[in-house]
Amino acid sequence: MPLEYAHEPERDVKGLIIRKDKPFNAEPQVSLLVQHYITPDPLFFHRNHGPIPDIDIQTHEVDIVGLVSSPLHLTVADLKSKFTKHTVMATLQCAGNRRDGLNKVKKTNGVVWGPGAVGNAVYTGCLLRDVLKAAGVVSNPEDVAKLHASFASVEQCEEDKNYGSSIPLCKALDEYGDVLLAYEMNGKALTRDHGYPIRVVVPGYIGARSVKYLKTITIQNHESDAYFQQRDYKILPSNIESEEQACKVWCNFPAIGEYNVQSYVCEPADGLSCKPGPCNVRGYALSGGGRSIQRVDVSADDGRTWVTADLYQPCSGGTKMWAWCLWTAQLHATNKRILSRAVDSAGNVQQEYPIWNYRGVMNNSWRTMEPDQPHL
Ligand code: MTE
Repeated sequence: MPLEYAHEPERDVKGLIIRKDKPFNAEPQVSLLVQHYITPDPLFFHRNHGPIPDIDIQTHEVDIVGLVSSPLHLTVADLKSKFTKHTVMATLQCAGNRRDGLNKVKKTNGVVWGPGAVGNAVYTGCLLRDVLKAAGVVSNPEDVAKLHASFASVEQCEEDKNYGSSIPLCKALDEYGDVLLAYEMNGKALTRDHGYPIRVVVPGYIGARSVKYLKTITIQNHESDAYFQQRDYKILPSNIESEEQACKVWCNFPAIGEYNVQSYVCEPADGLSCKPGPCNVRGYALSGGGRSIQRVDVSADDGRTWVTADLYQPCSGGTKMWAWCLWTAQLHATNKRILSRAVDSAGNVQQEYPIWNYRGVMNNSWRTMEPDQPHL
């Protein structure tokens, strides 16, 4: 049955580039994105796999079931009143961010995102670990290490009966993992586009794991069976080039969890066009798993020479870093490609060339230009 898109929310699409209309997928122009450390809602990317559900907050319940001793069925009011409120600043990045760079190498399978499928927000809700503890989840390390927290949404999707995904239970229970069941974004109730009335936010992981319109959390001894865990958001080897080939090997490769180190030149927007002479360059950088950005190198001569950018990363310190870094640099433009290369606190560094994969995920190469340029 075709999916019904008649009840989509009204949207202000100023500043957004629409990548797909149904389901609605859009990203901001990156020159606007890097004007704000906390991304305002109208500039936050939208990633959907089906029609936006219209959920009644009064009656909607989140079910916590599976390997727990006291299954729970909680309304959003219960989540607000029975659990301590927590606020976490986290950057959500779609695994498909910058898929366009891989597409220049060879066609990939997926929405062709530019570099704007990323945004930094302040999410408020309760900690998933508090809710799981209230449901009597196991706590001995041996069991925790084997189990998964699987999330399912209410909305129907193009690819599956509904959207679903999972994370290892040890991430869900990590005292410093900050996984939220969020009901607010940037100080206001979530909008329908971003998961109203309740969504998961998994800091440091690819956006796909932050399930919106959350209905069920199941503690189980295997990952989610959903398409989005089993057959998508995986980095397949580059010899897998078609759906037919992919179908035979999906199960041989792990699902992506944490995202990799990333940065992008957002201004000048075309990564090139400063007139020869002094030029202000700015962009974003981030890394998954709570790693902060240690350094961003910027080059105005296609990678021959580099200068170190000034970083704005206010929350970095001893704790996990879930929020991105904005950076600026002053360079002498030469009409050559302007590049950035981030290094994170574990020493991970962006590689020069895109590593092509069929699903077009996790592209973190240096900025690529047009296909006829020699660096491709
Ligand atoms: N949750 C549901 N229910 N449906 C979806 O399509 N998309 C996922 C994730 N959670 C998705 C979802 C993906 S791939 C991403 S990148 C983020 O939501 C995007 O969140 P946003 O739309 O708030 O930016």
